[in-house]
Amino acid sequence: MSSIENKSIKRVTVRDLQRMKGSGEKIVALTASDFSFARLFDRSGVDLILVGDSLAMVSLGHENTLSITLDEMLHHCKAVARGSCKSFLVGDMPFLSYQINVADAVKNAGRFLSEAGMNGVKLEGGLMIVNTVEAIVRAGIPVMGHIGLMPQYVNQIGGYIVQGNDISKANSLLEDALALEKAGCFALVLESIPQQLGHYITDKLSIPTIGIGSGVYCDGQVLVGYDLLGLFEEFKPKFVKRYGNLSSQIIKAVEQYSREVKDSSFPTKNYSHMMSPDEFKSFLDAKNDQL
Ligand code: KIV
Repeated sequence: MSSIENKSIKRVTVRDLQRMKGSGEKIVALTASDFSFARLFDRSGVDLILVGDSLAMVSLGHENTLSITLDEMLHHCKAVARGSCKSFLVGDMPFLSYQINVADAVKNAGRFLSEAGMNGVKLEGGLMIVNTVEAIVRAGIPVMGHIGLMPQYVNQIGGYIVQGNDISKANSLLEDALALEKAGCFALVLESIPQQLGHYITDKLSIPTIGIGSGVYCDGQVLVGYDLLGLFEEFKPKFVKRYGNLSSQIIKAVEQYSREVKDSSFPTKNYSHMMSPDEFKSFLDAKNDQL
């Protein structure tokens, strides 16, 4: 249980997400990688927080998502879990934590729930990981699928480019989606596919689709938290809308702090601990006695 968990607040469940698809209520998802952001997103009413392996890039400065380890992901998941009491929490399984063999995949997936306070895991891949998804689901672990642009396959794909934009690729994405639903996924991320295909797949599935760069007809949307807030400036995919510009606010604040430290206008007495004048005088007198 998270350290700030309030027993009267009910956490979003897979049933709530399913019900939202049924009623047409959109699912709001966002990625987070630490306690403070998770706490703010949770308080803002985000339905699902994903501890995405994109944190390798936006929080840790790696070139892509491939080098983050399982232990590093679990470390960030634990921090997010401590900050959240309401959102459904999904931990992203990193590169090679589920591709080597099914037994290791189940064991590694289980750690996200048993050690890191997550409610489910996310895996990238379609038909080729169906057996793994089935085994993880059999162990009682909710699985969110992820197809379309799969950043862990960036070297095979040859870049972060739109997927499914010809007939044969669109067909295989539909097959992937149906196979993942059959394997027991509770939801499916559709990344960077044409809006029409996102719409078509969403209508064909009974589980919710969460789109990122896949148009408005998905059952929900996810963005990387740092992108939405304007905190990650290395590059900006077409689908990223910046709802804030925290980078410039942070730079402005730190520059002001820096000026005030340099010219000694910070800290004023309001920000300092003061001894009473009498106490300080006694301290000085005692010091003088010792001389
Ligand atoms: O790692 C991540 O942030 C993700 C989302 C972009 C879906 O997988």
